[in-house]
Amino acid sequence: MENKPIQTPEIITERLNLRQLTEDDMNFILEFFTREETNRYVADDAIKSMEEARELFEAFIRPKPYLFRLGLFLKDTGQPIGTIGLYGVKMEDFRAVMGFDLLKEFWGNGYMIEAGQAILNYGFQELKLNRIQASADADNVRSLVTIERMGFKKEGVMRQKDFYKGAFHDDVVYSILKEEWMANRISST
Ligand SMILES: CC(C)(COP(=O)(O)OP(=O)(O)OC[C@H]1O[C@@H](n2cnc3c(N)ncnc32)[C@H](O)[C@@H]1OP(=O)(O)O)[C@@H](O)C(=O)NCCC(=O)NCCS
Repeated sequence: MENKPIQTPEIITERLNLRQLTEDDMNFILEFFTREETNRYVADDAIKSMEEARELFEAFIRPKPYLFRLGLFLKDTGQPIGTIGLYGVKMEDFRAVMGFDLLKEFWGNGYMIEAGQAILNYGFQELKLNRIQASADADNVRSLVTIERMGFKKEGVMRQKDFYKGAFHDDVVYSILKEEWMANRISST
């Protein structure tokens, strides 16, 4: 069971389509991941070429048992504005980790909360997960707020967990359990 690639879902929310990226999105991938702000608080460096964009694209679309990454598209215009997905999927433990990023011009509209809640629904309902984790660099305040607004609970800080861009970075770790997600759903209806 744990070696079966995850079927890439297509999810529609109020304002967004979440679906697999395609060849048509290569220019978006290049533009998005060459920007410094996209990778400021993660170990990955900004990419510099279409070749590197293609490597990322292929990593995103190749079916794998332990991750999937979707493009985020505005429903109205079809414009790609970010990516979101689950990685570290471990079916035998019913758990995974969420990761996401959004084009800066679209920050401040609640798009990532909307996408994140859709991924939580997918993870708990369809993949039958029990625990979804998310974490961010302690300096990545926007991301920490987004994770909290999605309903995750803070577990703690892994001090100086990562070394990148010339410094050690604290990682703030959050999780949400299936029972909490179900309780949130009941209280929001
Ligand atoms: C992390 C990131 C996705 C957060 O973007 P964001 O737009 O702040 O995300 P949200 O979806 O949480 O939006 C919340 C904002 O939208 C506002 N908003 C507007 N309309 C809204 C609505 N209908 N519903 C909810 N929030 C809404 C909120 O008030 C809030 O703005 P504020 O923080 O200025 O108060 C973005 O900063 C990013 O991509 N950063 C670079 C990549 C990155 O670091 N990824 C995470 C690695 S761990």
